[in-house]
Amino acid sequence: MQIGQLTVQNPFFLAPLAGYTDLPFRILCHELGAGLVFSEMISCHGLVYQQKKTLEMLATVPIERPVAFQLFGNEPEIMGEAAAFLSNYPIDCIDINMGCPVRKVVRKGSGAALMKDQQKAEAIIKAVVRKTHLPVTVKFRSGWNNDSIIADTFAMMAENAGASAVIVHARTWSQAFGGKADWSVISRVKKAVTIPVIGNGDILSYQDGERMMLETGCDGVMIGRGALGNPWVFNKLGRPGTVKQRCPVITRHIELIKEHLPERQSVFKVRNHVVRYLVGHPGASQLRYQISNSTTIDEITNLINASMNPTQEESIP
Ligand SMILES: Cc1cc2nc3c(=O)[nH]c(=O)nc-3n(C[C@H](O)[C@H](O)[C@H](O)COP(=O)(O)O)c2cc1C
Repeated sequence: MQIGQLTVQNPFFLAPLAGYTDLPFRILCHELGAGLVFSEMISCHGLVYQQKKTLEMLATVPIERPVAFQLFGNEPEIMGEAAAFLSNYPIDCIDINMGCPVRKVVRKGSGAALMKDQQKAEAIIKAVVRKTHLPVTVKFRSGWNNDSIIADTFAMMAENAGASAVIVHARTWSQAFGGKADWSVISRVKKAVTIPVIGNGDILSYQDGERMMLETGCDGVMIGRGALGNPWVFNKLGRPGTVKQRCPVITRHIELIKEHLPERQSVFKVRNHVVRYLVGHPGASQLRYQISNSTTIDEITNLINASMNPTQEESIP
């Protein structure tokens, strides 16, 4: 797939997930087949005002590429400045968040609020496109609520403003992350624009992704929650049946966290991710409880190794 000047080999993308799609998880998903990985959303103000926590989010290494960094904000000028700043980093794409439903974000006119102010949204896309040499994508929702499904006209606006691709989360703002994604909205967007359309919402397996492309005609798919504890989702073969078989990837994930995140974050991050790998494991709830109460990474590693005792390990259908 071609996104502006960027050629992407695999149409399965890792979605931006605040709190999760940090550098270690992006590298892991890339290694397991993701064609393009997205950072967590990054505040344009945090970048322009050089806030320490925001700058920490910009860590990247060549082995995760191609990578997209996602910006959020609501002032065209600041968004443009932030895009110019990001463009000095070795990344491949800038994505603009126009879909976040979180009240704190929407109240300030950012995220999904921009779907209610197309003029502002257009000004932001134009400002970002003007200030970067990188391809720019825009991620948004079906609309605000069931009475305003506007993703197709919003996509046309984004294309005319210079976006190189659009990403459609097929839920409205009022649905937040609940209910079912309505993939028919993605088909409508695909018919409305000539740039690539990436569909998003409720993909839990590689086969779901293939089905979304077939049913909607979209050019690629983006996977969010379905990748947590399951980075194998980017591969046809899917997640191995037993935790023992999953262990090399779990170990690799822990190593990447130790290597790339500050120590103060790493135990929390390991806990948060590792418990998600235990789906279907006999005794998973007890093991999850023990891991959640662990205070060191070694403790977590020991718990996992102990649980792999062959007498406990069973094949999971
Ligand atoms: C914990 C969490 C954090 C998220 N953070 C972001 C974000 O930073 N930027 C963004 O555009 N979307 C964010 N999303 C939305 C996802 O990218 C995605 O659009 C949504 O989860 C639907 O896809 P899924 O059904 O594959 O999870 C987040 C979703 C969740 C559950």
